[in-house]
Amino acid sequence: MTDTSLRRHSPAIKKINWQQFHKFNAVILLVFVFIHLATHVSGIFGIETYNAVQKVMRLIYRNPVSETILLASIVLQLIVGMVLLVKSLRRGRPRDLLSWAQVLSGGMFFVFMTQHLFSLGMTRLYFDLETDFFWPASVMSGPPYIYYFIPYYFLGVWSVMVHLGIGVRYWILDAGHARLANYTALAFAIGGALVSAFILPILAGAYFDIEMPKEWIDYLRFYVPAYEPW
Ligand code: HEM
Repeated sequence: MTDTSLRRHSPAIKKINWQQFHKFNAVILLVFVFIHLATHVSGIFGIETYNAVQKVMRLIYRNPVSETILLASIVLQLIVGMVLLVKSLRRGRPRDLLSWAQVLSGGMFFVFMTQHLFSLGMTRLYFDLETDFFWPASVMSGPPYIYYFIPYYFLGVWSVMVHLGIGVRYWILDAGHARLANYTALAFAIGGALVSAFILPILAGAYFDIEMPKEWIDYLRFYVPAYEPW
């Protein structure tokens, strides 16, 4: 029996609906994004506060069980998201502003997240460094890094918020509240841009001096040997 006829004859073997999977899996991402961004926002009160908040938040997302679920969920979300994106582009160009926003934010988030996870793995496993406040602050401590990481972080946060907002809009539309659905998507997009713009100056040391520890300067010199922080 071929694979297709097996599926036709056996009601137990149902085709996975990847769109539904993407939609439900996004709930894990949504919860984590709020925890993660709250940690970054707490940096306004200083490095110690940021690291203390992160330590508490890690109890939720960095124990072996939740971290495995989180990382598996994100990797699957990226793979399934890319498949859906390619399929949608094959059907034709996006038709309206919302479809464009969905496609572009999804694509941007894919680029951001693959680098974020690769870099996280390198920092923890290869460099054996603690990914606390100094990890993102190190790449915001001077050129050439800062020129890349300002748009990178800004678009990373903004794209995930725009994309999640469009996803939440569908949930609210399904519940029959069209107006609320549109306002929610808009609130995610505006909120995402504002949070992004709020976080970046904190990491760049605009509100307080950041004395970069030597191990983080060595980390940056691995890629750019002549690196000097501002
Ligand atoms: C300004 C933007 C961002 C900065 C500066 C940043 C920074 C960080 C830092 C410092 C960590 C290490 C956390 C820890 O060790 O406890 C981390 C981990 C992580 N980040 Fe981000 N992040 C940003 C945006 C995002 C966004 C938008 C996402 C979307 C989901 C994301 C997903 C993750 C994930 C999945 C981890 C791994 C968590 C773990 O397994 O410990 N990040 N990020």
